[in-house]
Amino acid sequence: MKLTLKIWRQENANVKGKMVTYPIDGIEGDMSFLEMLDVLNEELINKGDQPVEFDHDCREGICGACSLQINGEPHGPDKLVTTCQLHMRSFKDGDTIVIEPFRAKAFPVVKDLIVDRGSFDRIQQAGGYVSVNTSGNTIDANSIPVNKHDADDSFAAATCIGCGACVAACKNASAMLFTSAKVSQYALLPQGQVEATERVQNMVRQMDIEGFGNCSNTGACEIECPKGISLENIARMNREYMSATSKG
Ligand code: SF4
Ligand code: FES
Repeated sequence: MKLTLKIWRQENANVKGKMVTYPIDGIEGDMSFLEMLDVLNEELINKGDQPVEFDHDCREGICGACSLQINGEPHGPDKLVTTCQLHMRSFKDGDTIVIEPFRAKAFPVVKDLIVDRGSFDRIQQAGGYVSVNTSGNTIDANSIPVNKHDADDSFAAATCIGCGACVAACKNASAMLFTSAKVSQYALLPQGQVEATERVQNMVRQMDIEGFGNCSNTGACEIECPKGISLENIARMNREYMSATSKG
């Protein structure tokens, strides 16, 4: 395949970026999107040019690092896949592909296609944990029965990989889907009840401090989420928040 790539290049967060056009040839349908960028970077390095910086780690849909806006869609045109799981067979010979970083005030550009998602880490640190007694009286987790339906919903919420596609898809750059998945994974379990009140309040407060926008129930986040995280988590987080606030 012969393609035209239009890629966002930006030296750092303090300077203006711009789209740069790169023609590329010899791309196979079986290559992943990141392998296609590897081919481009090899060509750029061989010519003595700066390679395009992009984030990646596992390359199998687990770590959430490979967050790219491809032709205006987070993680590209396929559903329920990350950028590293997207294959070039999803494009046609002669296509032009526009590649940008995830755009949000709370995700500043580090370089080219890499953004700083430390804001997500700080939301996690604000409440994404449970306290466990380690004084020698630790209770075996299996001694607390958990309803199967709740366990399944908690597990589904825990599959969020923190990629940020929900934020990039939202017209308000809201982080409600991410934060609600993290709140839900504990809210559904008995082990998560001890800190439940502070957890939801602290995580929502941190989300607001980081500068994410409000949720307006458009649902673009759920459609673009590579892990199929449900909007039901946002409804659950809103209930948790109301209940925590009414307790004072
Ligand atoms: S909710 Fe989905 S889109 Fe948002 S960070 Fe988690 S996995 Fe990514
Ligand atoms: S590189 Fe880890 S999810 Fe894509």
